[in-house]
Amino acid sequence: MRLAARYPVKTPGPTGDPPTATGGHQAGIASRAQPHLQLAAFDLQRDSALDLRELLRRWSALATTLAVSGQTPAAVVGGREMDRPVDPGLSITFGLGPSLFRQHEEDRLGLASACPPALERLPAFRGDAIEAAYSDGDLCIQVCANDSQAAFTALHALIRAAGGFATPRWVQTGFLGARPGTPRNLMGFKDGTNSIDPHDQPALDRHVWVGERDGPAWMRGGSYMVVRRIRMLLDVWDATSVGKQEATIGRRKTSGAPLGARDEHTPADLDATTADGAPVIPSDAHIRLAAASSNGGVRILRRGYNYADDIDPATGQRDEGLVFISYQRDPGQFIRLQRRIAGRDALSKHILHTGGGIFACPPLASNAHLGDPLFA
Ligand code: HEM
Repeated sequence: MRLAARYPVKTPGPTGDPPTATGGHQAGIASRAQPHLQLAAFDLQRDSALDLRELLRRWSALATTLAVSGQTPAAVVGGREMDRPVDPGLSITFGLGPSLFRQHEEDRLGLASACPPALERLPAFRGDAIEAAYSDGDLCIQVCANDSQAAFTALHALIRAAGGFATPRWVQTGFLGARPGTPRNLMGFKDGTNSIDPHDQPALDRHVWVGERDGPAWMRGGSYMVVRRIRMLLDVWDATSVGKQEATIGRRKTSGAPLGARDEHTPADLDATTADGAPVIPSDAHIRLAAASSNGGVRILRRGYNYADDIDPATGQRDEGLVFISYQRDPGQFIRLQRRIAGRDALSKHILHTGGGIFACPPLASNAHLGDPLFA
């Protein structure tokens, strides 16, 4: 079966942005984030390139069915009747982890020579508290939808279809508020204001899509996904004054405007000073240290989600925070930013990075399977 690529949809979702991929790019990257996330990483059961190819073929075909019709074939979900209303906002994005290419220095699938040089396990960063249970994986699937049950059903079907080939390693759900405008994170701040606009084609070409001169050829038109599971220490945050919270981020809590401005979308003036010469946006504010101008022009496309999981028995606090997801042309963009902010910005003492991974998301040409360019 051929993949009808681009996951065509009939009508735009409520966000107004159809999550269909265009120009051979996968869906779920350059579109406004739908409110529900189901993210899962998988490990191959056997070291077999044939298995990988077959799995990608199955997933590609199923993704087409799910996204085009919004229906899950009954057989895939164990014969249960699971007719779902069409969710025109459903997007499914597939990623390949570095361990597919090399594990313990071994070329386990005979694919090591195809591995993008940049696809390496992320380095450790200052303050990391990474747990294996939330990290890495041979493969990753990001499902986003307007309907939470449609997102669940799609991932459920994809997990079932992987049976015999790959087992889920970790699963993470996420959500965004339903209000129009920039969504708020669990700290109460608008999050995503100064990310790359998914309609800004020149910025996407410059910062998000792997280009003609980047290697390897099978990744051109694709992108690299970085996932970080970032726990927020909300008990301390909530006891912090709004003024201090705003200084931590560098933006106003209510409006989302940068300090010193009134409108959310006014560019931050990092040079502005108060009457006594202090910077209006503090020297350790998150947006100052993460800004493109502080990092040699580096930008990333952020597509984060809130998460709220179980109570941590060690602290009695709920494990809650941000499923940080970014897409970039080169993982080095994320690494540069994270090296700059980790342990340095004022936000660092309110958060803990507990997991994540890096995945290569190949392009998806019309009439092609997801794995085709890799195995060509
Ligand atoms: C829980 C962790 C985090 C929280 C709560 C957070 C929150 C925010 C908020 C509220 C903004 C301002 C609004 C916006 O432009 O979106 C922002 C901006 C930004 N964040 Fe984060 N962030 C987190 C982690 C990260 C990480 C890990 C990175 C990358 C390594 C990052 C990179 C950026 C960038 C590039 C900007 C835009 C800066 C600019 O205005 O130029 N953030 N973040």
